[in-house]
Amino acid sequence: MTRYVLSIDQGTTSTRAIVFDHSASIVASGQLEHLQHFPRAGWVEHDAIEIWDNVREAVGLALTRANLTHGDIAAVGLTNQRETTIVWNRHTGVPVCRAIVWQDTRTQRIVEDLSREHGVDRYKASVGLPLATYFAGPKVKWILDNVVGARQAADDGDLLFGTVDTWVLWNLTGGVEGGIHVTDVTNASRTMLMNLDTLAWDEQIVADMGIPMSMLPQIRSSSEVYGVGREHGMLPGVPIAGVLGDQQAAMFGQACFSAGMAKNTYGTGNFLLLNTGPTRVHSENGLLTTVCYKIGDAPAVYALEGSIAVTGSLVQWLRDNLGMFSDASEIEPLAREVEDNGGAYFVPAFSGLFAPYWRPDARGALLGLTRYVTRQHIARAALEATAYQTREVVEAMNADSGIALAELRVDGGMVANELLMQFQADQLGVDVLRPEILETTALGAAYAAGIAVGFWGGQDSVTENWGEAERWNPSMPLLEREQLFRNWKKAVTKTMGWVD
Ligand code: G3P
Repeated sequence: MTRYVLSIDQGTTSTRAIVFDHSASIVASGQLEHLQHFPRAGWVEHDAIEIWDNVREAVGLALTRANLTHGDIAAVGLTNQRETTIVWNRHTGVPVCRAIVWQDTRTQRIVEDLSREHGVDRYKASVGLPLATYFAGPKVKWILDNVVGARQAADDGDLLFGTVDTWVLWNLTGGVEGGIHVTDVTNASRTMLMNLDTLAWDEQIVADMGIPMSMLPQIRSSSEVYGVGREHGMLPGVPIAGVLGDQQAAMFGQACFSAGMAKNTYGTGNFLLLNTGPTRVHSENGLLTTVCYKIGDAPAVYALEGSIAVTGSLVQWLRDNLGMFSDASEIEPLAREVEDNGGAYFVPAFSGLFAPYWRPDARGALLGLTRYVTRQHIARAALEATAYQTREVVEAMNADSGIALAELRVDGGMVANELLMQFQADQLGVDVLRPEILETTALGAAYAAGIAVGFWGGQDSVTENWGEAERWNPSMPLLEREQLFRNWKKAVTKTMGWVD
């Protein structure tokens, strides 16, 4: 009897495998971190082979700890850090270079060249995205232009491109021995190469970026059986039946199924998505239009997204690069030692500014410093930065949708931080809600897979299983709240134009 679904969540800093039972409770999990490579200022890389090794090890750990074998698993769901770009040889399975991570800004020149005549919104009508270093298409172009021999090999049909979902799926289903080369609509919508209406590759944009069509994976829905685990692997014959980019998976796990429902995930960055139903909404305020999910043959559901590059990774940076504390959880007690930010504002534009500005020329800055400012104030400023950035995205969303957000569902690692959650509610002026099950990303992919194989009846099961665990109400006086936000906005303007 197969009573469980396995979810693989391949994120920016770690890879997790989680076994869920039918009531969506966690049975066991395995987790491994992978190395972050920063070979030059602005560059961020991962080793795709290390990622694949970690996927296998995490799956092994989860199954062992749950005391299960592949025969107990009804289906596998897969979710992933999005936009991170891998190009590999289809005959050897070896990547031509390290994966270029979504945070990497090396494609700034390519993006500027492509924007020169028609502006950054050149492809927006088709793909819903402005030209920016964030997305995968220009990263593929960079690889073909810069890795020795890559262009020729691509033209000869020897290379494959994939975001992380595609890479893991290809390896899970057989690799060089017949692995399937597919992606889902949510991941494809982050490449800048997929038309949002037809859900097919836009051949003109693909040609503009100089990418051979033979490199591109087949685009499929987010919930269907794509293939089965390879014969001699850990999941032989088990259907792999759900694939969603991690932010879309969190929407699914948070049961944001009706137009107007939104969630905000606090991870390495923050990603706020608003379900807009089967219609795609064009943003006039710096948000992205993206695919939220597509269940089998049902029409696609779209979302508006506010992407913030650096939130949790600022806490990691304070820990790893400045040695301010040894564990990320120490930031909250440190920040609580002071009453306020002491006048300090930290704009973490480490990858330029994402939504709603899209300024690759910005770089991080700490402003408002005086002799009065202590490390406690800086800790507080770092936490506040997450809340201010989120408020900017919410304001853009309210302007685009014409409806003010009534409350915000949150998830991700940083929601354990009570100080931040209270400050977030204060800045937004609306309630912030945390669900009972915090692993919404992994759970969303598990649901997509389980629904495809009939393990769960449908999206109603997801809604039934969702429950509220905690709520923060706004309590800061209006004058104080607005003064802080005005200072923040002033600080942001100082970071732009730093890189020529
Ligand atoms: O778009 C980038 C996003 O998918 C990364 O998410 O949680 O791996 O930092 P995360």
